[in-house]
This record gives sequence, structure tokens and C-alpha cells, in this order.
Amino acid sequence: MSQLSQRPGISVVGQRHRHESADGHVTGTALYTDDLSQRLSGVLHAYPVQSTHAHAKILGIETSAALAAPGVIKVITAQDIPGVNDQGAKHDEPMLPVDEVMFYGQPVAWVLGESLEAAKAGAKSVTVDYEALESLITIKDAMAANSFHGIQPEIAKGDPEGAFAQAAHVFEGDFEFAGQEHFYLETQNSLALVDENGQIMIHCSTQHPTETQDIVSHVLGIDANEVTVQVLRMGGGFGGKEMQPHGYAAVAALGAVLTGRPVRVRLDRTLDMTMTGKRHGFHATWKIGFDEQGRFLGLDAQLTADGGWSLDLSEPVLTRAMCHIDNSYWIPNIRVKGRIAKCHKTSQTAFRGFGGPQGMLVMEDILGRVAPQLGLDARELRRRNFYTEGQNTPYYQPVRHPERLEAAWSQVLDTADIAQREAQIREFNAAHEHTKRALALTPVKFGISFNLTAFNQGGALVLVYKDGSVLVNHGGTEMGQGLHTKMLQVAATALGVPLSMVRIAATRTDKVPNTSATAASSGSDLNGGAVKDACEQIQARLAQVAAGKLGVPAHEVRFGDGQVTALGKSESLDWKEVVNAAYFQRIQLSAAGYYRTEGLHWDLSRMTGSPFKYFAYGVAASEVEVSRFDGSYVLRRVDIVHDVGDSLSPLVDLGQIEGGFVQGSGWLTLEDLRWDTSDGPGRGRVATAAASTYKIPSFSEMPEVFNVSLLQKAHEEGAVYGSKAVGEPPLMLAFSVREALRQAVAEFGLAGQPVELASPATPEAVFWAIESVRKGA
Ligand code: MTE
Ligand code: MOS
Repeated sequence: MSQLSQRPGISVVGQRHRHESADGHVTGTALYTDDLSQRLSGVLHAYPVQSTHAHAKILGIETSAALAAPGVIKVITAQDIPGVNDQGAKHDEPMLPVDEVMFYGQPVAWVLGESLEAAKAGAKSVTVDYEALESLITIKDAMAANSFHGIQPEIAKGDPEGAFAQAAHVFEGDFEFAGQEHFYLETQNSLALVDENGQIMIHCSTQHPTETQDIVSHVLGIDANEVTVQVLRMGGGFGGKEMQPHGYAAVAALGAVLTGRPVRVRLDRTLDMTMTGKRHGFHATWKIGFDEQGRFLGLDAQLTADGGWSLDLSEPVLTRAMCHIDNSYWIPNIRVKGRIAKCHKTSQTAFRGFGGPQGMLVMEDILGRVAPQLGLDARELRRRNFYTEGQNTPYYQPVRHPERLEAAWSQVLDTADIAQREAQIREFNAAHEHTKRALALTPVKFGISFNLTAFNQGGALVLVYKDGSVLVNHGGTEMGQGLHTKMLQVAATALGVPLSMVRIAATRTDKVPNTSATAASSGSDLNGGAVKDACEQIQARLAQVAAGKLGVPAHEVRFGDGQVTALGKSESLDWKEVVNAAYFQRIQLSAAGYYRTEGLHWDLSRMTGSPFKYFAYGVAASEVEVSRFDGSYVLRRVDIVHDVGDSLSPLVDLGQIEGGFVQGSGWLTLEDLRWDTSDGPGRGRVATAAASTYKIPSFSEMPEVFNVSLLQKAHEEGAVYGSKAVGEPPLMLAFSVREALRQAVAEFGLAGQPVELASPATPEAVFWAIESVRKGA
């Protein structure tokens, strides 16, 4: 922190401000990428020809009928690609297939038309000749066929076998659970234009503008400086726009180069659901040992991620899953093996939590299953295994501040009246035969930073104009999470000006280069560090100017709320006056800021190190009521205490916690992703390819009572203004819903019976779980 600080008591960070685009979001005036195409003339529309096989050889593509159709301008196939035919970070993902299709719905060609209808009709008249090949659809198909790709990492610590030999209780099991469709409101889209010099401008809904720029330049065979990517804002990304937009941006750019006209690629919902990657489903096998008191002695597990046809981000997703299998618990002896199934499906990708939720779900499922057999209340079993000070993770990173977990847990117990409500629930259950209630508490510990150390850097460009107004550019992208709001607050605080003097510009690769994806929840840590750095450079220069005017040394100058003062002096200067004076003294009023997270290291080959700057903690308590007749349930009440450090923007953070929790409950209880696994002609097709068959949470699934609070006195040393990342961790608070459902199901059977519950725990799954415990009873 610079010695020059804002005036005491004036800090824009920490204030409750609504999202900078809130008005635009609710009134519909906020522009999204695709809105821009409506403001241009001569735009061509692109529509894909999709594969009708999960796996097949392409014998030929016949485009002449399409080219003769009215309004069709061009059909793009692999032959049109001037550079490298690849849209993936691992170079295993042809942008357009040459001789083999790898999943049902894969784009084989793109038709450009004067209207969307023309492009669509043109796509229908392209004929593709296929020779069907054998396909692997489910994770079990792939496992049976030994079909894997990418790394097979292993975490190893202590001696799990020895631990099992000594354990009072040993359990074994397996668990397969589903992935999740992102269902961002704004589907994937890009708009590309070429100027008279051949410079390409791409407006794109991407979380990773730099990688979009890289892939487009590779596909076109040109340098990165010939491609600019701009992101206005996204209507949600949730990880689904970290890797997935690149190929569509490349199609738009290639179309623009081939025709000289602006080209718009926008997927409709069903195209998006059938072509883009989703959260990875996983398969897990495990063996676990406990001592007499229910403390972990050892865990041996194998995680298999359902990767789909290409690697995409499957490797880092898998390693994050493995690094989160411990969740909040100390496991002295552990071995975790990981691998990625390769099958003929969409290529699964980042999704809020990036594998962390999958690793942690395995652990929470184990604890929920074995608690009755240990004769322990699941709540007590969890609490008993929490990390304490001085312990380290399976990959040897010390767990800092585990007492915050304990603090959040006690606060929930207290403020949510857990003991009293549990007594009421017992009474209710004794009095009701066909309806049962249950309450579960689950903890979250989530590592913040990209595992890959190099990605932990951020950049910014802050401009102060002669009139004192400020324009902030930074490398992060806005997807509704409130990053821009936080960056405005950081800039206003760091410069000591009111929020109203600062504006934010759209994210562009020609303003801030070589950025990391806005992902891993670290958008505000990385870009906030960079914005603050830029502001402090400018402020230091202005302090010199003000010092001259006030007749004090520069280090005594203070900035705050648009005023510039000096310690012990009553005179104050207006910020605008100081800025203007600086201009006339020829002092630079803009600065490039930079930040990198210090102290990180990670050895992927041994899966050891300290990959995370810190851990975010949280605790949730959920109460459900379940009906025996149809397995339907309601979420009666949710109480959350979550650790965001010293919040940069409390309203934004509360929104992130609520939204993350609800999205997590959707994954675990509602959203039922299905593929056609039959041997019929639709084999491999996404069977839930629209809102009619894929149910995401809406108002009716909101908890009836929803209390969210931020953990107090949680300053995080070394992070921007003591704050912590918030984007992903709250999603995993939703384990409490699934565990409450499991406990409610148990109430229909005899005490002490383990309950197995499918994930998602849809009403149908809950119904069958009840049937199975009733048989036991
Ligand atoms: N919140 C909204 N409203 N929309 C989103 O797309 N994405 C989530 C989370 N919260 C998302 C969101 C994901 S996956 C991540 S990694 C973070 O936001 C990214 O932003 P941050 O790093 O600024 O928190
Ligand atoms: Mo978030 S899954 O890291 O984009």
C-alpha cells in the first residue's frame, strides 16, 4: 500500500453500491454483444450444419445446393481455414472437422446468409455423407473401453493402506454424478468486422478475450496485433465462456475475412445446448477409514472426469477437483488418482467452481452416507473433522485461518437457532407419517488463485482527463458478477475521488494486453491489484503537484472525496484543480497498472505446493420438507455465513452468495442433463436441449426464508483492501440442500440405515431413495 492514502474515514470500497449496470439490466437498455449487430448494415448471419452422428467418418460434404439457395453468400468448411484448424488450448480440437465428427451436433460447416433464415435454409441443404463409427457416450462406456485422454495425476500423502489397517471403521463405495448446463441467459455470440487495413475487430461474449484473440489469430494465420477483441458485458458466463467462445469468434472472423462484410455468429438456445461444453460429470470410487471417534484416518479415491471429445479445460478442472476432495477436513493419509474419460460428447469445460464442487461433492456424499453407520449425527461428524491451525492439505499447503470455518459454523448454529429447530423437526416428524423434515449444515473451503501460477497476473490502464474525470480500463470481463462495480470502487478509493467521477470502459485487448481469463473467482484480486497500482502511480505524481501548492512535503498530502489536503493544514484543494495544474506542468495523467500474486508455487507433476493465495470459507444450513408420495420437496429455510474478507462491495457480494447457492442447488437437485444412449439414430444427442426439458431454478425453487450474512472481522492480509474472492465458493454451500434431502429420506426408514441418493436429487430420485429405505425398514 502506498504511503499516500485517502483521507481517514473516506473509503468507497466497503460501501453498499448497486451493480453499475443495474438500471440497464432491469430496463433493457444495457447493450450486449449481439445488440451491436443491429446497429450495423450489411451484416451476414452464420448458421451451422450439425453432425447427425456421435462418431463418424466424413466421406464428403456437398455444398452446391446451399450455394445456389437464395441469400446464401458462402459455406465455410475446413478447407477455407488459412491458418491452423484448431480452436482448443490443447491443439486437439479442429475448428471444423476434416474427416471425422466426434459428437452429435458438432458443426461440420457454417453457412453465411443475408438473413438468419437464409443461412438456416442454406445449412439444411448442405448434405454430408457419413460412415458411422462406434461411439462411447457415457462415462462408464469410456471407462470400459479404457478411453482416456490427458494427464493422470496423483495426490499422495502419508500411508492410506496403513491407516485402513488401524482404522476402527472402513467403508468403500462408488458414486457417479451428473454435470450441468451453464444456461447463461445470453448464448454464445460474436460479431467480427474487418477494416480497410485488414485489422480485425471482434465483439465477443468471452471471459477470456486474450485467448479469443490468440485462437482467432492462429486460425487466420496472422499476428495477434492484427486482432482486437472487445467485451462489452456478458449475460452470464459461469465458466462456459472461458474456452468455448473462441471457435465461434474464429468463425465470425474468418467469415468477415472471406467476405469483407461484418459477420454475426449467435447460437440459439438449442444450438448452444447441443454444441457447447458443460460442467463435467464425474465417477468416483473410494475407500475411507475412521478411528473410534469418527475422525478421518485415511482416504483412497479415484476420480474420473467425463471430459467429452477434446481436452479443453478438463486437465485443470480435474486437478482442482482432486485438490478439493478434502473440502474442510483434515485427512492425514490420502491417495487420490485422477483421469479424464474421452467420449463422443460435447467437450466439457469450466463451470463455477472449476472441478472444486465435484471433488467436494464426493467427500460430502461419503460423509452423508457413512454417518449413520458410525452412529454419529452427520453434523457432528463434519464438525469433528474440521482443519485446525497448523495442519496442511493433501498437497501440503498450510491451511491458514481455519478458525474462520469454526466461527462461521458457530454463527450459523447460533443465528439460525439450529438446536431449537432440530427439536421442532423431531416433533414434526414424529407426528407426520408421509412428510418428513430435515436440516443439514455443510462447510466450504475453497482455494483462490489459478493452480497454474503464471495466470495469476492482472493489468489495468487508468486515464485521468484534464477535467479530473477518470476512465478505468482493466483486463477483467463483466458477466454480471459485479467486477466493474468493484473496480470503480477500488479506483475511487485509491485516487480519493467520489464514485461519480469514475467510469469504466469496455474490456479490450488493445487497452490491456495478455490478460488471464476472468475466472477462478480472482477477477477482483488480480485486476483490483492492477487498478490500484495504476491509481497509486498517478496519485504519487499528483501529490508532488499538490505539495508545491500547499507548501508541504509530498508524503503529507492526502486525497479523499475529491479534495486534496495536507496533514495539519486547513487549506484544501479541489481534485480537479490539482489535475489541471498537473497537466500544465506536463505531468503524465495516465498509468498502466500491474499486479501479480506473490508466494504461489505448484508442482503439477507431483501435485504438491501452495497454489492458493488463501482459502474462502462458508457455512450453510438448509431445511427441507419431503413428501413420500412423489418425492417432491420444498426448501423451507437457508442460513448462510460466508467469508469474503473485508467486502469490497457488500451488495454485490450478497448477490453473488445468493446466486451461487441457488445455482449449486440447481445442479444438485433439479438440473437433469441427459444424452441419448440408445443405439437408435439419435445416439449421442443431447436429449435435454431446451428449457422445456432442462429445468433450472426459478422463483418457485427459492428458499422460503433466505438469510445471508458476511463473516465479520475477516480482513485478509495482502489481498486488495483486505477483501476475498466470492464468485465461485458459495455454489458449494448448496451441498447442505442435498444432505438435508438425504436426512429427510432417512426419516422414512429405520435409524442407522445409510441412504444413497442420486445427484441430481430430483424429486424422482428422492422418491426412489425413499422407496429403498422403506424396503429396508
Ligand atoms: N455471477 C454472475 N452473475 N454471472 C456469471 O457468469 N460467473 C461465476 C462468478 N459469478 C458468474 C458470476 C464464475 S464461474 C466466476 S469464476 C466468477 O464469477 C468470475 O468473476 P470474478 O473473478 O470477478 O469473481
Ligand atoms: Mo469460473 S468456472 O472460473 O469461470
